[in-house]
Amino acid sequence: MKKFTSGICMFLLFGIAAFAQNGNTIYATMDAADAVSFKALYPEGITILASNEKQAAVLLSEEVTHSIHDNVKTHGPGYIFRASEALAMQALSREPRRNPQIDYSITEDVFVNECLDLVDGQNIEDDILELEAYGTRYHTRAEAEQAVLDQQSKWDAMILAAGRTDVSTRIFYHVNTPMPSVILTFEGANSPDEFVIIGGHIDSTAWPSNNNAPGADDNASGIASLNEMVRVLLEKNFVPNRSIEVMAFAAEEIGLVGSAEIAQEYANNGVDVAAYVQFDMTGYNGSSSDIYITTDWYNSNTLNTYLTQLMDHYNSNNTNPAHNFTYGFTECGYGCSDHASWADNGYDAAFPFEAAFGDDNPNIHSSGDVYSFFGDPDHSVKFAKLGLEFLIEAAKPQTLSVNDFSENAIRVFVKNKTLNYRLNNTVSNVNEVSVFNVAGQRIISEKVNTENGSLQLSQFAQGFYIVQFTLENGHAFTKKFILN
Ligand code: BES
Ligand code: ZN
Repeated sequence: MKKFTSGICMFLLFGIAAFAQNGNTIYATMDAADAVSFKALYPEGITILASNEKQAAVLLSEEVTHSIHDNVKTHGPGYIFRASEALAMQALSREPRRNPQIDYSITEDVFVNECLDLVDGQNIEDDILELEAYGTRYHTRAEAEQAVLDQQSKWDAMILAAGRTDVSTRIFYHVNTPMPSVILTFEGANSPDEFVIIGGHIDSTAWPSNNNAPGADDNASGIASLNEMVRVLLEKNFVPNRSIEVMAFAAEEIGLVGSAEIAQEYANNGVDVAAYVQFDMTGYNGSSSDIYITTDWYNSNTLNTYLTQLMDHYNSNNTNPAHNFTYGFTECGYGCSDHASWADNGYDAAFPFEAAFGDDNPNIHSSGDVYSFFGDPDHSVKFAKLGLEFLIEAAKPQTLSVNDFSENAIRVFVKNKTLNYRLNNTVSNVNEVSVFNVAGQRIISEKVNTENGSLQLSQFAQGFYIVQFTLENGHAFTKKFILN
């Protein structure tokens, strides 16, 4: 049995005991081959309800939870908690992918690079230390709930400071854990019903007791990478075309409980989720490449390919070498984190991970999972950059129409081979002006500092040109003019 010696996830079983449906048994799904091997070892302790070529729906008895006690180390074949037999069975017969078809294009080069420049590892370090300081974020403990409420307050403060009314947060309360999750939403300006989602779990666990589970890498690091992305998007005043959601999940460590309830609700409501990306463990640099794309069967090949294209485009041969890093491929071998909940509900999901499976942080699920063990934020910075590339390119910036500007919001006139422009206060967030020739080549470009400005164009031939004003949020607004 694959990875059996490293044990099955006991905390999962202990954690769920309080919420078990039938006395001390739980329903779950797991790798079909693992289920068969467990059955051979514990014939009484596991009932295989059904299986397909990949997964089995099982009922696990308390006997199993005790019998496997000695084999427990940190994490293992794992299984996903299912709140009822029906849900366990349903998980075996998933609907085909339900994503809206989006074109995975890469078009926002200038804006994305400006965002990458703003990613600051110091913020990530601060956030990891702050989460570590809760001591334990095990899902039944008060500190776990507090960490979620504080996460919401932190986001709310950032949103307020940015003056955004189209960005909001909400708490999601769960059935199978007392710990809530928190969700931040950038409402899409053009396609608000299509969602691009990124998330990670904010709970932690430690073996053998949950009295000291700092969870710095697993998964304060992922949350810190997400926070830095949100900070940059707000600093750049980014308004997406599609809606973006950033999620901090409850109770991942006891079997993906928080994400399962959220993904299930989205699926029940027919929510269009274009793509889901998981950040779980971004801090520990344990392998020769930087980011490892997991290629487990339930992940989306299309989305994985897109992530590699983004890294090929933005993180190799970037003119700013600070943005370059490498990637590889690995497999968990089971539903090892919250992305499995989204895949389970038919959504395209991906999980870029900190190392090749097996080279990851050896201290997770112990009191030793502290920031000082890896000690710098550089690895998590790379995930924040990939996450920004993904969110901006998959959600795209708002598309403005002519109606978004009053007739004279931007006025241009040409005199003596000089282009003069006047911006009124409705477009005060313009930060760059460029002129393009009819071949689409940018022939001149300048920062915009004042409402009235001019560009000297005497070196250019007579003819048609296009002037483009780029707003702080990356959107470009264009007007045609004749140079004579
Ligand atoms: N962050 C881990 C997942 C992980 C650990 C992936 C090491 C790759 C390498 C996650 O928090 C976790 O502990 N998952 C559980 C399974 C889950 C269904 C409870 C595990 O791996 O045992
Ligand atoms: Zn974990």
